[in-house]
Amino acid sequence: MPQSSSMRLQFNRLPVEEPHAVVAPHDASIPFNRPSIVGRELDNIVQAIRRGQLSGDGHFTAECNAIIARLTGSASALLTHSGTAALEMAAILCDLKPGDEVILPSFTFVSTANAVVLRGATPVFVDIDPVTLNLDPAKVADAVSPRTRAIFAVHYAGFPADMDALAAIADAHGLLLVEDAAQALGSTYKGRPAGSLGDMGAFSFHETKNILSGEGGALTLNAPQLADRARIIREKGTNRSQFIDGLVDKYTWVDLGSSYLPGELIAAFLHGQLEHVGEITRRRRRLFDRYLEGLAALPERYGIGLPRWNPAVRGNGHMFYLLLRNAAQRSAFIAAMREAGVGTPFHYVPLHSSPGGQHFGRTAGEMEHTDRTAERLVRLPMFFDLEDGIERVIDTCLQVVTRLDGSRASC
Ligand SMILES: Cc1ncc(COP(=O)(O)O)c(C=O)c1O
Repeated sequence: MPQSSSMRLQFNRLPVEEPHAVVAPHDASIPFNRPSIVGRELDNIVQAIRRGQLSGDGHFTAECNAIIARLTGSASALLTHSGTAALEMAAILCDLKPGDEVILPSFTFVSTANAVVLRGATPVFVDIDPVTLNLDPAKVADAVSPRTRAIFAVHYAGFPADMDALAAIADAHGLLLVEDAAQALGSTYKGRPAGSLGDMGAFSFHETKNILSGEGGALTLNAPQLADRARIIREKGTNRSQFIDGLVDKYTWVDLGSSYLPGELIAAFLHGQLEHVGEITRRRRRLFDRYLEGLAALPERYGIGLPRWNPAVRGNGHMFYLLLRNAAQRSAFIAAMREAGVGTPFHYVPLHSSPGGQHFGRTAGEMEHTDRTAERLVRLPMFFDLEDGIERVIDTCLQVVTRLDGSRASC
């Protein structure tokens, strides 16, 4: 049935939330994550619809690309539909093929390794440094083989890996260095932003990240030849971007590629968040510092670890974690916190011990710190609107830890 004009949606009647309104309805419990509207996200979506282009690479995508390149100090940036997509593009740009190897941590999200496996190459898992929870450069150096083509360095919890040491190894062996900066927008290493520290950087805007669009991501590129090819890969292997720029009079299939481009509605939402990146990062850093201060007694009194980091890096307040004494104490902690209405999930199951990791990858050296970290780590709630709830999380943590310690002492 043809639509009459009176039946069309009246976009100007969409309710526009006040800044800082919470998107999700919530009860008295404090979840691990709660996404927020922080600015003009909804207005932008209306504007994108009015502009008449909902597919990708329109006005908001271009604006987001420019903001991300500026924020990350990288030569250029391209929005993708996820951090996973950005990593897959990076793996294509590395020209990985069967027989090639990529060094990466086992203590990471599955997408870091899957991107490598999708190219037919082998992920080689290396242990983390027990202080920073990032790749240990000495172990990376030991893992390099004649088949190694790249290092994928994860910036865990938003704290950049030791990129100078990793770059030195990459340079010495002619390897590409890719940052899995999914968690690290706004973080720095020796004053330089994550995303500018390797040949490429993959970011995520999944709803659990500092800056979010539900699903979303970006790839930063620090060499012009990578940037030109990345635009082709992102557009299904065609030179459509050159066509849009008026550089060719028709577009065609020229290289490998897939559909990695997000639609304009996602970019419009993301733009509303990116406009407030400074305030969002400041807020999360304040929350992180408050956790650090409120839980400062845990290491000495209860043997529970708090985040530690290389003094040369500055985090972005992405995540606050605790390292319980062992797996049993962690399970008891998560259960008691859940009972008190606070979500404190654990994080990665090490990839080297997962069925996929054992089938597709191999380890280089011991995985002692990966295993020991993965079984003890829990994440505390961390999101833009947590300010009202953080004191309750801290108090509950202290009570639960004291109780668990008391029951251990009385055993
Ligand atoms: C380290 C790391 N890499 C990659 C990803 C994948 O990002 P996305 O969920 O946007 O695909 C994540 C997401 O949580 C991540 O934490």
